[in-house]
Amino acid sequence: MGRSAPPPAGDLPPDAFFERARRVLPVSHHDALMAALTEPRPVWLRVNTLVATPQEVRSSLGVPTEPGPWPEALRVEPEHRSAVLRHDLYGAGAIYLQSLSSQAAAPALDPQPGEEIVDLCAAPGSKTSHLAALMRTGTLVANEVSKGRSHKLRAVLAQLRVSGRESLDVRVRTGDGVRFRGHRECFDRVLVDAPCSGEGRFHVGDPRSWGGWSPRKVKVTASKQKALLHAAIDATRPGGVIVYATCTLAPEENEGVLARALKRYDGVVHLEPLPVPLETALPALTQWGAGKGFPPSIAEHARRIPPGPAWDGFFLARLRKAE
Ligand SMILES: C[S@@+](CC[C@H](N)C(=O)[O-])C[C@H]1O[C@@H](n2cnc3c(N)ncnc32)[C@H](O)[C@@H]1O
Repeated sequence: MGRSAPPPAGDLPPDAFFERARRVLPVSHHDALMAALTEPRPVWLRVNTLVATPQEVRSSLGVPTEPGPWPEALRVEPEHRSAVLRHDLYGAGAIYLQSLSSQAAAPALDPQPGEEIVDLCAAPGSKTSHLAALMRTGTLVANEVSKGRSHKLRAVLAQLRVSGRESLDVRVRTGDGVRFRGHRECFDRVLVDAPCSGEGRFHVGDPRSWGGWSPRKVKVTASKQKALLHAAIDATRPGGVIVYATCTLAPEENEGVLARALKRYDGVVHLEPLPVPLETALPALTQWGAGKGFPPSIAEHARRIPPGPAWDGFFLARLRKAE
């Protein structure tokens, strides 16, 4: 993963990113990271089961699809992307373009019918709409800090037929997710799909993907993530579940944020196994930098998805609040 043989087109993220990534990822994953940065990204659909079944989509889409690790996930070749976007199924909200890693977050939360759930950082709504399809009945609060992105969120929820359902009360809220700490123990489950440095989605075709990245930005972002995860824990009922997700490789934003929450909420939350098949995932790190190491339950239960031919870089952890 050197910079001696640059890819054919585009610029590359800063050297400091590569220096860190070499320490974060095992050597066996360095070439895969470079390939993920430079080769066309895989195209994954999620079948919106509020509108159609995977079988219906596969038989009507008109382009070859490969099944993914769960029934709603279908892979199509990048050259068929625009045909998919033009298809009536897309217009009808039956399919949604969503990376495989992103598709793992809602099943990791495992929402149940009739529950009260909040998605703390929701726009543009990929995971909120997935949560809706899994729970079907109950209350789903989709919160987003940015007004502009809230509009996009509403549009996606309308497009995917999530809003306006009699059995599902969907409420879009615009504001800082941290204020949910005031909704003490109100929700059965909370998803924190945190704003992050996005290292798992860097790509040469999209220099904006790393624009603004710096080691300092990673630190600042980790502090915001910490506040969001603490608010999520405060807002969860005893016995409830919190999922913490990012699309970055940065340990400060992943293991570091979990370690601080486990310390602050010692005896109140614990990590538990992720109920999703993540075949290429790595255990979370046990140590980063000069610190004294992360609590062992983090490596045991949290998972890093390294960037690869099918998956974007991602991090997922599931916490349970004590009864
Ligand atoms: C990783 S994206 C979420 C993607 C979304 N969950 C999805 O699957 O479509 C993070 C989002 O958090 C929002 N955000 C940033 N800071 C926030 C905060 N303090 N409270 C709530 N949302 C925040 C960002 O504007 C961004 O839309």
